[in-house]
Amino acid sequence: MRKQIAAANWKMNCTLQQAKELIDGLINENIRISPDQEVILAVPFPYLMLAKEKLKNINGFKVAAQNCYSQTSGAFTGEVSAVMLQSIGVDYVIIGHSERREIFGEQNKMLSEKVNICFGHGIKPIYCCGEPLQIRENETQNEFVSAQIKEGLFHLNSSQLENFVIAYEPIWAIGTGKTATADQAQEMQAHIRNVLAEKYGNEVAETISILYGGSVKAGNAKGIFGKPDVDGGLVGGASLNLAEFSAIIKSLK
Ligand code: 13P
Repeated sequence: MRKQIAAANWKMNCTLQQAKELIDGLINENIRISPDQEVILAVPFPYLMLAKEKLKNINGFKVAAQNCYSQTSGAFTGEVSAVMLQSIGVDYVIIGHSERREIFGEQNKMLSEKVNICFGHGIKPIYCCGEPLQIRENETQNEFVSAQIKEGLFHLNSSQLENFVIAYEPIWAIGTGKTATADQAQEMQAHIRNVLAEKYGNEVAETISILYGGSVKAGNAKGIFGKPDVDGGLVGGASLNLAEFSAIIKSLK
């Protein structure tokens, strides 16, 4: 079975004290993570080493950065490279979150370079895609998301795509409390898997974990994660609340 993943995206939240409390709290919950499951904490850069240290002996917990730059080193003030992240043992990097795309103008071409740089340094990308409200209202979301997948990922070879992680996050559902229905998530995620299968074959497409993101909460996680092409969630707001996120982890297939 492909990996079922509960990923927390803390975004730009938490002080050091709050970060410690949240990670310690999760550890103390003692949640049993099966070999087919994984919990990923995407914490702000200043807390990556703290998270790595605290989680090093905790089965099934991994650490992610929320971004990295497309170059390995040099005069890029304020940026963080995949080489640096590799040197502190970061497992994953979120690439192309809609907030990076919309606020910081990141485009598919640059994101494909970021994906490459992650692969070059042994870090797994979590590649995000998802349509804005207007595209959904025009009913062109399938074409829009296909283009994000093709332009960001189709230069990769099959072995790179095996066990890859994608997060589908419809922008209209992020932080709005307006979740896509479980059926809407399933419909798009089956479409994404088809797009991948057409290029890489069914066998590879079936190994790819496709997460849903956008107002996932303890109360709706089970219904969404229960769908066949939804392999867990990328969770923003609710991941900052210990009880909520613990319940979301327990909702994984
Ligand atoms: P919310 O769960 O706060 O809607 O955020 C989703 C998200 O953007 C996760 O990356």
